[in-house]
Amino acid sequence: MSDQCKHRKILVTSALPYANGPLHMGHLVEYIQTDIWARFQKQRNHTCTYVCADDAHGTAISLHAEKQGITPEASIALINQERIRDFRDFHIEFDNYYSTHSEDNRILSESIYKTLRDKSHIVTRHIVQAYDPEKQMFLADRYIKGECPKCGAPDQYGDNCEQCGATYSPAELKSARSAISGATPVNKESEHFFFKLTDFQDFLKEWTRSGTIQKEITNKLTEWLDAGLQDWDISRDAPYFGFEIPDAPGKYFYVWLDAPIGYMASFKNLCDRRDDLDFDEYWHKDSDCEVHHFIGKDIVNFHCLFWPAMLTGADYRTPTKVSVHGYLTINGEKMSKSRGTFITARTYLDHLNPEYLRYYYATKLSSRIDDLDLNLDDFVQRVNSDVIGKVVNIASRNAGFIHKRFNNLLAANDAAPALTKVFMAASETIAEYYEHREFGKAMRTIMALADQANAWINEMKPWVLAKEKGKDQELHDISTVGINLFRILLIYLKPVLPAMAINAEAFLQCGELHWDDSQTLLLNHKINPFKPLMTRVDTARVNAMIDASQEALNMTDTATDAPADTQQPDAGKWLKRDAIAAEIDCETFAKVDLRIAKIISAKQVEGADKLIQLTLDIGGEIRNVFAGIKAAYSPEALTGKHTVIVANLKPRKMKFGMSEGMLLAAGPGGHDLWILEPHDGAEPGMRVM
Ligand code: MSP
Ligand code: ZN
Repeated sequence: MSDQCKHRKILVTSALPYANGPLHMGHLVEYIQTDIWARFQKQRNHTCTYVCADDAHGTAISLHAEKQGITPEASIALINQERIRDFRDFHIEFDNYYSTHSEDNRILSESIYKTLRDKSHIVTRHIVQAYDPEKQMFLADRYIKGECPKCGAPDQYGDNCEQCGATYSPAELKSARSAISGATPVNKESEHFFFKLTDFQDFLKEWTRSGTIQKEITNKLTEWLDAGLQDWDISRDAPYFGFEIPDAPGKYFYVWLDAPIGYMASFKNLCDRRDDLDFDEYWHKDSDCEVHHFIGKDIVNFHCLFWPAMLTGADYRTPTKVSVHGYLTINGEKMSKSRGTFITARTYLDHLNPEYLRYYYATKLSSRIDDLDLNLDDFVQRVNSDVIGKVVNIASRNAGFIHKRFNNLLAANDAAPALTKVFMAASETIAEYYEHREFGKAMRTIMALADQANAWINEMKPWVLAKEKGKDQELHDISTVGINLFRILLIYLKPVLPAMAINAEAFLQCGELHWDDSQTLLLNHKINPFKPLMTRVDTARVNAMIDASQEALNMTDTATDAPADTQQPDAGKWLKRDAIAAEIDCETFAKVDLRIAKIISAKQVEGADKLIQLTLDIGGEIRNVFAGIKAAYSPEALTGKHTVIVANLKPRKMKFGMSEGMLLAAGPGGHDLWILEPHDGAEPGMRVM
């Protein structure tokens, strides 16, 4: 029986985002992908429920709250509100968005743990670990800093060196310190609880080969399984923000124990409010409902080893599918604060339409686990040429005739049955692509249809017919076919572009479009006047988004906050301009006031890891400018030099004061950066042309 005939009951999840920072473009790869898939299932009339939650436990979350000077409870509540808004504005439609810090999750976590314990799948052992005597807490690897034992690089975290790539145990770090308090860690023993993953070796060997996961992942897991599994440490000592382990005072569940149970808890919480959903029906051992997890490639071991083992051990069903996706890069590189490509969901929303991104990601997604690149040039081009240029265009070029000449009424017959048949026949191919997460292939198939529609309209030339006498019927027929082809394309695109679909449904006066509606036509039917469904992506808005992302970094420029990839001062400025340099005309360029400046003095900025503060003479006027060139120049080397600045840049308030202009420099950044040095009689204040 085909998927379409059989009614399915499907529970879908995305990984639960940690509640210690804003959602960013990388996260959105996952939530947009899952949302498209869930919407597709709903549009196919299956019962599909999409749940998620904040992952609210663990040290990272309590430290984040401590930094803000509030309790973890207050911090996760704030983040939860922000999240819900971000997801809503990206049209990510959860049936429930919950938190792992909830009573439902505590009850389920305790009950699963107790079952595992009573079936002897839990053991305790004493282990020795690094301990921060000042903070009085055990330190995970990533909270220990020191010198690399191999190359001596300072300030290396945990168990690998960012400088030379060496891996080691944190105990080997020289002059190790706690990254939290700075104190020297001591070794301390304590009792830990372990989940005996080894009990599930045979089960996992079979489960990982049962078609539940992609081949690439199965191969990786087989390597791990063949190497032999180890028991999993599921406890942490107080102080720890999480659930206390039953009958073990002062011991807490490690965050990854209760996090996946959060999927169940979120669903449970929803079932309690909904008569049509039954928790046990979905989760009991022999359930024939489906459970689909969408996750990134970094958390495969938790979802494909620990989680199915826990579920089986506790007599629950295991997931139907775990779908793994790759990581996002932007313009071919890891997201980077200094390049302005660490873009939060909110910064994106401040500048651009969320459906641009939904469509662009859809074109990039496949069932493989390759990383995917958001190339900003390509993004602008793709969305404009496909969604606006191909799809919306079909509606806009036909709607006018229907409106002006035929009183908004579509013709009564199908004048291009061969073409409409091709459109209808594509339905199952496209559905298969969606089902198997081949969204890129689905988008290409849809756009190929759009090309056919446009080619046909170009051949029929309705705009010529419109000027001729006695061609009314023909014009009416052609425009009616155009509108109908648009409608079918829209049905196929609806999981990706839900907001545009709602507007188009209003325009077509056709009610909510389901997948099967692709097999029918709208004839002798009244539609509404056409309103633009989507505007073109504006490159200036994309640039403004990058600038805003960099600004967010400048505002917080401190030595401690900057992650490793921001060590290159202002490199991003130049890379960014290379990446998307929109054309400007001479007039716009003439607005840029470039001036020769003489550097009167230069000094270090306390607390900034890349800025130099410059006092500049631009011809009788003194300016204060901050420039990210510390890695390339010492203040002494700068004093007395002539250089070029943008003199009419709007003054910008930075953390260290007002910056009244921008220094021009060339090079990839970091050490390799050169300020422009004019010779031959340059005088302060001279205009550069
Ligand atoms: N809290 C865990 C998941 C617990 S699930 C029971 C976690 N949180 S996370 O916030 O770090 O990531 C949430 C999801 O976003 C993960 O699936 C992760 O792989 C995905 N991504 C985070 N950054 C990403 C990119 N840069 N690119 C693509 N996906 C990314 O892991
Ligand atoms: Zn090293």
